[in-house]
Amino acid sequence: MKIDNRNIESHLKEKRVFKPAKEFARKARIKNLAQYRRMYRESIRQPDKFWSREAKELSWQKRWRKVLEWKAPFAKWFIGGKLNLSANCLDRHLTTHRRNKAAILWEGEPGEKRTLTYQQLHREVCRFANVLKRNKIGKGRRVIIYLPTIPEAAIAMLACARIGAVHSVVFGGFSADSIRDRIHDSGAIALITADGSYRRGGIVPLKKNVDDALRGGTSVKRVIVFQRAHNEIHMEEGRDVWWHRELEYVDDNCPPAALDSEHPLYILYTSGSTGKPKGILHTTGGYLVGIYSTTKYVFDIRDEDIFWCTADVGWVTGHSYVVYGPLANGATTFMYEGAPNWPEPDRFWKIIEQNRINILYTAPTAIRAFIRWGDQWVKKHDLSSLRLLGTVGEPINPEAWIWYHKNIGGEHCPVVDTWWQTETGAIMITPLPGAIPTKPGSATLPFFGVDPAVVDPNGKEVGANVGGKLIIRGPWPSMLRTIYRDTERYKKQYWSEYKENYVTGDGARRDEDGYFWIVGRIDDVLNVAGHRLGTSEIESALVSHVRVAEAAVVGRPDELKGQSVVAFVTLKSGVDASNDLKGELRDHVGVHIGAIAKPDEVRFAEALPKTRSGKIMRRLLKEIASGAKVSGDTTTLEDFSVLTKLAEPEE
Ligand code: WT7
Repeated sequence: MKIDNRNIESHLKEKRVFKPAKEFARKARIKNLAQYRRMYRESIRQPDKFWSREAKELSWQKRWRKVLEWKAPFAKWFIGGKLNLSANCLDRHLTTHRRNKAAILWEGEPGEKRTLTYQQLHREVCRFANVLKRNKIGKGRRVIIYLPTIPEAAIAMLACARIGAVHSVVFGGFSADSIRDRIHDSGAIALITADGSYRRGGIVPLKKNVDDALRGGTSVKRVIVFQRAHNEIHMEEGRDVWWHRELEYVDDNCPPAALDSEHPLYILYTSGSTGKPKGILHTTGGYLVGIYSTTKYVFDIRDEDIFWCTADVGWVTGHSYVVYGPLANGATTFMYEGAPNWPEPDRFWKIIEQNRINILYTAPTAIRAFIRWGDQWVKKHDLSSLRLLGTVGEPINPEAWIWYHKNIGGEHCPVVDTWWQTETGAIMITPLPGAIPTKPGSATLPFFGVDPAVVDPNGKEVGANVGGKLIIRGPWPSMLRTIYRDTERYKKQYWSEYKENYVTGDGARRDEDGYFWIVGRIDDVLNVAGHRLGTSEIESALVSHVRVAEAAVVGRPDELKGQSVVAFVTLKSGVDASNDLKGELRDHVGVHIGAIAKPDEVRFAEALPKTRSGKIMRRLLKEIASGAKVSGDTTTLEDFSVLTKLAEPEE
């Protein structure tokens, strides 16, 4: 392999290829590679033509004049168009056979079940939109939603969209401090929450967190509280009102506001690698078209499908593929409130069996947890209703992909590994299940209208199998429009490095077939003796060892090599940690990648520090590996005890 220390090297060679099954391809919207390529070419050469065809499938109160106006880095889509997102998710279906089908199937962690048909959901959204109006929450106002994954989260989001209020969902696992920061940045005037929510059998005191966040005064003047867990809470006179009480004062008539295509839909905060969270702003028309067409083509979604995206509504995946994407397509979306291992590690499989789920969309971190908990939990259940599997959130290790395909998909479900970001709003690089052969670990090829490239530091596209930075050339409909109240940061962060090209922050390579392999965040790239190595490949090599469940690799400053490789490894249930195994793992990486990538140190860990959305926090591991005390921001950490355990000396 040629060494060029400006580029990221890529050593992982995954040769397995899975062709779409004939049976699946025959029924799919996109049936073969040639059809994909034809449509893709059109979408790049004539984006206006492609996207207006997609947009015409939706309902507009006023047709757009112009598809795109691009004054880099600012894009406007469907200019002059007026529409309403909630009308596209609800009203649009009420004149069809869909009015009486389930829009939302929901299960609470304690086991309650609810079904809302399109007609019922429409009514609830209209009523709650009237509650918002009654509380002087109008068009353009910002509203924080701090709710668990219950139907009311979708109702609240859709109600905001109906009147043109801008929602900002804050993940229910975040603390009072995080809520306060987001209120402050967004200038929200209202907040929607619940008394509490269920998590691993306990109650998360949502309202109490809100009270703490609002202490001392903020811009929030009204708090609407949904009664979920019936835990005791304080209601602040003049500020707090009950959701169910408010409903008594309103009727169910609420026509959808005709909103400009570029009207702000939501702000979603995402942690930057350093410091202050960024308020990613999405708008109405382009976002709708993006999530509508990705849900349609990537999941090849059908009227009779029950679609389960396991993400919390607090993440962009929950916005685009729990709520808006499936409903815009008139599908049935399944929502689950709780943890995957409550009361036992087979909760997901039980849900799939009982509800006959057809499409499952989850994260690699969850898949690795299932592997660790053992196959016996899966084997107890009939998963034959599944016809398609998806993953998102991180590079999926080929071994985890194979496990998912075999044990969950019964070797007959296509697996779509979908690459995208909070900023992109919708899926960007992905297999289309009837058309694109998959390779475990690769997100494969770009979605329609998306023009990604892997470039060197000068912005020049690199050759096949050479690593570099992943960029997107030009705008796409569901792209972020700015960072809320920080346009300078928007320009600098995403558009300053390569003119008119969006910088994703990820490293990647393209193989000889043009397939994209994401090697991780650029910030995580190691530099070992002049070799720039992506962490995900070394991690995948470790995970391919039979005894390993999960691995995180970081660099530690090293006088000789610049950085040395430190691997934190979680073993499968029942495997003993031993020094021999450490040696074996080092050799295993040597065989799979090469001597250069062999970890200098292997540390066994009971668990790895993760964000609440399941991303490994390599930044913290880096500090631990170099013996420093963890000093950076840990507010997004899921389980604090993990850190203390990691910092304790071994043996
Ligand atoms: C980052 C975005 C987009 C929904 C959830 C995460 C990583 C995401 C993949 C994938 C490899 C992936 C990237 C990306 N990522 N999907 N299929 N393969 N990496 O949203 O929190 O904004 O994170 O997640 O590093 O930049 P997010």
